[in-house]
Amino acid sequence: MTFNDTFLRSIRKESIDHVPVWYMRQAGRYQADYRKIKEKYSLMQICEIPDLCAEVTLSPVRQHNVDAAILYSDIMVPVKPLGVNVDIVAGIGPVIDNPIRSLADVQALRPLEPENDLPATLETIRILKNELNVPLIGFAGAPFTLASYMVEGGPSREYHKTKKMMYSEPKLWQALMDKLGDMIITYMKAQVAHGCSAIQIFDSWIGALSHDDYRRYVFPTMKRIFSELKDLNAPKIYFGANTSHLLDQWTELDIEVVGVDWRVSLDHARSIVGDKFALQGNLDPVYLLAPYDVLEAEAAKIIDQGLKQPGFVFNLGHGLFPDVPEAAVTHLTQFIHDYSKRRLSER
Ligand code: CP3
Repeated sequence: MTFNDTFLRSIRKESIDHVPVWYMRQAGRYQADYRKIKEKYSLMQICEIPDLCAEVTLSPVRQHNVDAAILYSDIMVPVKPLGVNVDIVAGIGPVIDNPIRSLADVQALRPLEPENDLPATLETIRILKNELNVPLIGFAGAPFTLASYMVEGGPSREYHKTKKMMYSEPKLWQALMDKLGDMIITYMKAQVAHGCSAIQIFDSWIGALSHDDYRRYVFPTMKRIFSELKDLNAPKIYFGANTSHLLDQWTELDIEVVGVDWRVSLDHARSIVGDKFALQGNLDPVYLLAPYDVLEAEAAKIIDQGLKQPGFVFNLGHGLFPDVPEAAVTHLTQFIHDYSKRRLSER
């Protein structure tokens, strides 16, 4: 089994023969096999059974021939051992019955000890390291996105409780950011030590903050996280949705890859972040419901823009969702490989 390292090569701006692709939420409910597993096990239960968790992680690699695997887990998995009673409720998302509301709540959060707290996750990574022929991506949620669930108690549209805490009790807010920053740094180091070749920090809901609020209330923590992970032997990807007004600040972070959401063009993202970073993105996942000729035209446009500079990974501009046909994901992956091979060989 030859190892396909195109994903890492492209991030390092080395020569590639095709554009690498993986998808956020590539293991999930759009897969019939996954839905069958979910009849018997919850997400949290799958994460506790390393053989099963490794199998779920591997399945989209086998099914679609994608160029990277992402560890099957959830951003809330490492939050539970801190002392937060979190459950993932089907169709809703993370729900927490003891939300963070006071300094005492923050002080009560335990530091993460990956070996003791998350042995099944680390064992899953060890298994995958032996079985995969593509790089394994580890991940964590970013502090704001994690805090939004921890403070609201569940998913939110406007993040009023979270922002209220930020604006009215900045010391409390910073204490929470510090705790989550520590957790993320420790967790990312452990994932890489056990076999992850890259990491992605998901800041899905950070677009809810203005440019200046991001600078003041979140950026210092992001700066610290990526600085402390600078020497990690794995490229770091930072992704968020609705982030075009924040990308200028991301250029100050010690990251290798900027994850671009589907609302902005790759050309526009490049005009903001320059050519220092690799870009990852950014097909609107809803195109997977469109006729194949429309899907292909949009993917080709993204590939053409992505290939203007070295350092490009194809992905979606947010995660795959349950009503995407499995065949469309296989078709898109094949198209990305074939089309980009042609483009690269014309050079
Ligand atoms: O394939 C992969 O991408 C790896 C697995 C993964 C999951 N969650 C599994 C999951 C990853 C990387 C995540 C990250 C995650 N979790 C994020 C950041 C990425 C993003 O989509 O913005 C966020 C915000 C969460 C929190 C969360 N967990 C939400 C909003 C939901 C969806 C609720 C729903 O039911 O639609 C979940 C549940 C979840 N996490 C599912 C999966 C496959 C779906 C439900 C299930 O299968 O039980």
